[in-house]
Amino acid sequence: SRTMNAAAEQSPFVEQVKVKERGRETRKRTVKDFFFGRTLGEGSYSTVVEATEVETEKIYAAKILDKRHIIKEKKTKYVTIERNVLHKLRHPFIVRLHYAFQDKQSLYFILDLAANGELLSWVRKYGGLSEPVAKHYMAELILAVEYMHQNGVVHRDLKPENILLGSDMHILIADFGTAKLLGENDGSRTNSFVGTAEYVSPELLMDRQEANIRGSDIWALGCIAYQLLAGRPPFKATNEYQTFQKILKNEYEFPPHFSVHAKDFIRRILVLDPNYRLGCCFFKDSDPDTIPNFDDLKSHPFFTGIDWSNLSNSNPPQMS
Ligand code: ADE
Repeated sequence: SRTMNAAAEQSPFVEQVKVKERGRETRKRTVKDFFFGRTLGEGSYSTVVEATEVETEKIYAAKILDKRHIIKEKKTKYVTIERNVLHKLRHPFIVRLHYAFQDKQSLYFILDLAANGELLSWVRKYGGLSEPVAKHYMAELILAVEYMHQNGVVHRDLKPENILLGSDMHILIADFGTAKLLGENDGSRTNSFVGTAEYVSPELLMDRQEANIRGSDIWALGCIAYQLLAGRPPFKATNEYQTFQKILKNEYEFPPHFSVHAKDFIRRILVLDPNYRLGCCFFKDSDPDTIPNFDDLKSHPFFTGIDWSNLSNSNPPQMS
C-alpha cells in the first residue's frame, strides 16, 4: 500500500491548462464557482449532483469522482478516457462537458443537465413506447452513434440507462467511461468485455481474435429498439450466464404488437455474424477508418417519415 500512496502523491490526474479559445481567455473554473445541490444519481465511482454556476445561474450536472477510490480500484484509465472523449465530442444528442477541474479529494466534470432523467425510466413507466415515439428516439440515437463513430469513438455500453433526456425531451447520451478511442492502442485487448450483459454482442462473448467493436454498438442499437417497443430487452434471463446463452443462440421472441417493419429492422440488426449485420461491413478493429454504413440503418422502412436533417429542432412526439 505504500507504493500506492507514492503513486497517489504523483497524482495520475493531470491538470489541463486552459488555453485561449477563439482569442478569448476562458478562466479555469473551481469548486467555488458552483453551488452544489441535490443528488441526481450515484454510480460505483461517482456521484452526479445538480450544480449552479454562481456567476451565470446556469444549472449543470456535476459528476464528482473520488480520486482515492479511483486510484485504489485502478480505474484511472477509464476516467481519463471519459474526460478526453467528452471533451472531443460536440453534438446536440451527446452530453457536453463544459468544464473539468479538481481539488485535493475529487475530480469534477461539469456536464449538460439532463433534466428528464433516463430513457429507461420512461420506458418502464409506460411499459414500452408507441411505435412513432420509439422510431423518433431510435433516429436520434442513430445520429448520435453515427457522429461518435465518425469521430473515432465507440461507446461500448449503449443502453436505455445511459440515454438521458434533456428539458426539451431530446436525448443526451452519457457515460463514456467504457468508451474506446479507435486508433489509440492502449495495449489492452479491445474485445475484453466492458458493457452490460443484456446488450453485449455475440462476437464479444465468443472472444474472437478480431471482435468488431463498432459492430457491437450496432448490436446494442437492435437490443434498444426492441426494448423501447417491448418494455424489456430481447435477451434477459435470471442470471448473466443464462443471458449470454440466449444471446449466443439468438433466442428472442417478438410480442404480437410489433409492426412488420419494426420486426424486420430488429431482425436485420440482431444477426450473430457482425459482418452481415445491417450497416456493418467487413471491417477490422485495426482499421479505424471504416465505420458502419449508417445510411443502411436510416433508409430502413421502419424510419419512414423521419426528417433526418431536422431531428434536433423537431419536437419529439409525446410519450404515451
Ligand atoms: N445522471 C448522470 N448524468 C447526468 C446528467 N448529465 N444529468 C442528469 N442526471 C445525470
